[in-house]
This record gives sequence, C-alpha cells and structure tokens, in this order.
Amino acid sequence: MFNTIAKALDPVIFAKPILPFNLDEMQEKVLRSSAKRLLLNCHRQWGKSLISAMKGLHRAIYYPGSLILLLSPSLRQSSELFRKVSECCMMVKELPEKVEDSKLFLKFANGSRIISLPGREGTVRGYSGASLIIVDEASRVEDSLYLSIRPMLSVSLGDLMLISTPQGKRGFFYEIWKDNNIWKKYKVTADKCPHISKEFLKEEKESMPERWYLQEYFCKFLDIEGMAFDPDLIDKMFSDSVKPIFGESLLSGNVKPLKD
Ligand SMILES: Nc1ncnc2c1ncn2[C@@H]1O[C@H](COP(=O)(O)OP(=O)(O)OP(=O)(O)O)[C@@H](O)[C@H]1O
Ligand SMILES: [Mg+2]
Repeated sequence: MFNTIAKALDPVIFAKPILPFNLDEMQEKVLRSSAKRLLLNCHRQWGKSLISAMKGLHRAIYYPGSLILLLSPSLRQSSELFRKVSECCMMVKELPEKVEDSKLFLKFANGSRIISLPGREGTVRGYSGASLIIVDEASRVEDSLYLSIRPMLSVSLGDLMLISTPQGKRGFFYEIWKDNNIWKKYKVTADKCPHISKEFLKEEKESMPERWYLQEYFCKFLDIEGMAFDPDLIDKMFSDSVKPIFGESLLSGNVKPLKD
C-alpha cells in the first residue's frame, strides 16, 4: 500500500522497477515536473519517446479517467511511441486491467485512455477533456495541428508537454522556445548525457556536416535558408496514407512478398 502511494506521488519511483537502467538527472526532473506547460529541447536519443511513454502511463494508471494524447508527426512515429508504452505496460505490476487494446489505443478499467495520434488534423480532432497531451518531435509537427489540439485542454485544464530536437528557426516549437515565458523550458545537450559516450559524439562530429551535428546533438535552432533541402519538404514527400505494394503495413512486421 505504502509502495503504491509512493509510486502514485512520484513518477520516478514508478519508473525505476520498469526500466533496465537508471534514469539520468534531467529525465528524473522531467518525470517529476508538474509544470502545466513544459518544453524540452533535447538531443537525439536522449530518451524523449521513453520519457513521454512513462509520463503518459503514470498519468493513466494513477489518475483514473484520464485521457492522455500522444501526438507524433507521422504514423510511423506514433506507432513507435505507442510500442514503447506497450513495452512499459508489460513491466508494470500494478497495471489496471486493459479493457481495449489496439495498435494506437489503450483503455484501462479505471477509465483512463492513452491514444497515440499521427500528425494529421483529421485524426486529432474530436477528442476533448485531455488530462495530458505530449507532442513528441514537436518541431516537426505542423503549426495548424498544434493549434487544433490546444482547445482539447480547455475544459479539463490539462497539461501540455512539447519534447523535441530542433528543426530550424520556424514553427511553434521554436517560437515558444524563443519568446514564451509561460512555459517551463529545459535544454539537454548530448555532451551532458550520461548514456551517450564522448567517443560516439566524436565519431558523429566527423561523420556529418557541422550544422547538422549542432542541431542533432547540441539542440541549436539553425536557419533553414542555409540548408540544401528544407527538411519539411523532404518529410512531405512521404505519406502514411499510401498503402504499401506488399499489401500489409510494414509496421505490422508481417510483410508478405508479392507473388511471381
Ligand atoms: N537513462 C538512460 N540510460 C540508458 N539508456 C537510456 C536512458 N534513457 C534512454 N535510454 C535509451 O536510449 C535510447 C533512445 O531512447 P528514445 O528512443 O526514447 O530517445 P529519443 O530521444 O526519442 O530518440 P530519437 O531522437 O531518435 O527520437 C533507447 O534505447 C533508450 O532505452
Ligand atoms: Mg523519439
């Protein structure tokens, strides 16, 4: 009983038995943060998706009836994030019974729901009363989408967390980082990250253009103009709505080859 209360009050105590490694200081700080508006500008592989999954799961388990929306820029990323939630679920002893469980949606007997949404306006509209919205890779999410999710917090007075590596000086993630003082903001660069080695960083520095290295590992917002290709344009060349010619989604891991 005491242990359950401790886990409910402290997401770090909840997370410890689930993870095969120790959380670093900043990860603990973020998990424990009760900021209503939280922005994290952090490097690649810091654990953005993992922390999003853990924060969402903690809210769902210990705050019955909560609606948790996890938003990612694409179907592939929302599936990946949801996979992290499902993996964490397997390690949680006090998990409430699952009453609905699909590839992007989980409902518990305590009334809480976790929904992982791909970044398209049509898919996110229609939810209301969100207790927590987490936008993973927020710098790659369209402004229109961000604006359309905010009203879902209005009645519930829910929390909003943006977590991302930068992607140029544009968009809501950059604007909030630059100017907005309502938000609690943190930056985490890779040289301060205990689970990224100096050797690996050195190799990365030598393997990519400096601007790219600074963006990916040192969280710098760079001018898009200097880049050979606008990353957004490249992203838009891919579509989640086109059916793969193999018949099954590549995400299902059940791809059947075409017949001769
Ligand atoms: N404190 C930690 N100690 C050791 N490994 C960790 C720690 N935190 C996260 N990891 C591991 O780092 C890897 C990256 O985690 P995750 O995918 O959540 O990061 P990310 O920031 O979302 O990455 P990306 O920028 O590629 O989206 C995973 O294998 C995860 O298990
Ligand atoms: Mg990620």
